[in-house]
Amino acid sequence: MATTRGCSAYLGVVAVALLAPAGGAASADSAKGQRIAERWCAECHVVAPGQRRASDAVPTFAQIGRSGRFNEATLAAFLGDPHRSRMPDLSLTRSEIADLVAYIERQAR
Ligand code: HEC
Repeated sequence: MATTRGCSAYLGVVAVALLAPAGGAASADSAKGQRIAERWCAECHVVAPGQRRASDAVPTFAQIGRSGRFNEATLAAFLGDPHRSRMPDLSLTRSEIADLVAYIERQAR
């Protein structure tokens, strides 16, 4: 975490939240997003650097983050519409989706 000095885990989380784009994502928590991703998304997606097993036809979270196409609204729409994707409907809450977006953006660095 290069942007924090006198670094505590709490400051790290705040720094990540501040890096998220303005507009509703202020309370998003990328650490929670990581836990959700590891639990619900890692079966198919590479959600973190170093992850070994995932489906190779599926974009990694780093690629998704770099594509810049997903914010809270577009990810919610994507996840909430199983007809538009080959992914299962995971019925995540709005705040879980915000946490995931914060986490995905962190992977894009
Ligand atoms: C059962 C496998 C599976 C799981 C579990 C899964 N995905 Fe996916 N995901 C896919 C596949 C396959 C694609 C690429 C094809 C598509 O768009 O449906 C994809 C694509 C995506 C895309 C990119 C779509 C685009 O158009 O670029 C996003 C964003 C995404 N997934 C987010 C998630 C998140 C967040 C989770 C966990 C909450 C998750 N996925 C769980 C299989 C999965």
